Amino acid sequence: MTVHIGAEPGQIAETVLMPGDPLRAEWAANTFLDDPVCVNRVRGMLGFTGTWKGNRVTIHGSGMGMPSLSIYANELIRDYGAKTLIRIGSCGAMQEHVGIRDVIVAMTASSLSTPSRGIFRELNFAPCADYGLLNAAVEAAKGTGATCHVGGIYSSDVFYDERPDLTEMMTRHGILGVEMEAAELYNLAARHGVRALAVLTVSDHLLTQEALPSEDRQSSFGDMVQIALEAAFS
Ligand code: HPA
Repeated sequence: MTVHIGAEPGQIAETVLMPGDPLRAEWAANTFLDDPVCVNRVRGMLGFTGTWKGNRVTIHGSGMGMPSLSIYANELIRDYGAKTLIRIGSCGAMQEHVGIRDVIVAMTASSLSTPSRGIFRELNFAPCADYGLLNAAVEAAKGTGATCHVGGIYSSDVFYDERPDLTEMMTRHGILGVEMEAAELYNLAARHGVRALAVLTVSDHLLTQEALPSEDRQSSFGDMVQIALEAAFS
């Protein structure tokens, strides 16, 4: 057990899918995994381990924002030996050509600050995805019928942003979408020599103000789980 994860040693798989919402972790485990077992309930941050096509997988919530994800990803990597971590979540689109329901596979994740900023200090480290996972996710996305974009995203520290000038600058620099976790996941993966990727569905659009209807959220989320599982074991 660690401070935030109640699983016994050996109960966490080397491959971990990380949705922000713990209830999404429960839904994904019950929908996609064989014999899912709940391995964590500490603070309600649910984690489940089961198998997918015979491969052991853990699906564990990250919570919202980089400080929360950082706690769980650190413990999963350092204490439980996770080797492949894939964030599955939603993002807001920042380009005209990116639509609601589209999938974004994040090649890089820019940020203003991350929990790792105190470590990097003057260094502008460039957090990036594992290429093998990224390539496999792009291939897997073709099977879902979703329109898939590959490129840079922005990991924000706030959902309710008060800096329209920053959003405009990111849009001008080709950033595809905004979410709140990937940059720290990529930093931690680099630090510990493991593989990471973020696969995101566009749930809202910052330029058009459109939003994904709530009845479509489950099916979009299911597509991401499928893409992440296929990428992890390709
Ligand atoms: N901002 C930050 N995170 C998000 C957003 C957003 O607009 N949409 C989904 N996750």
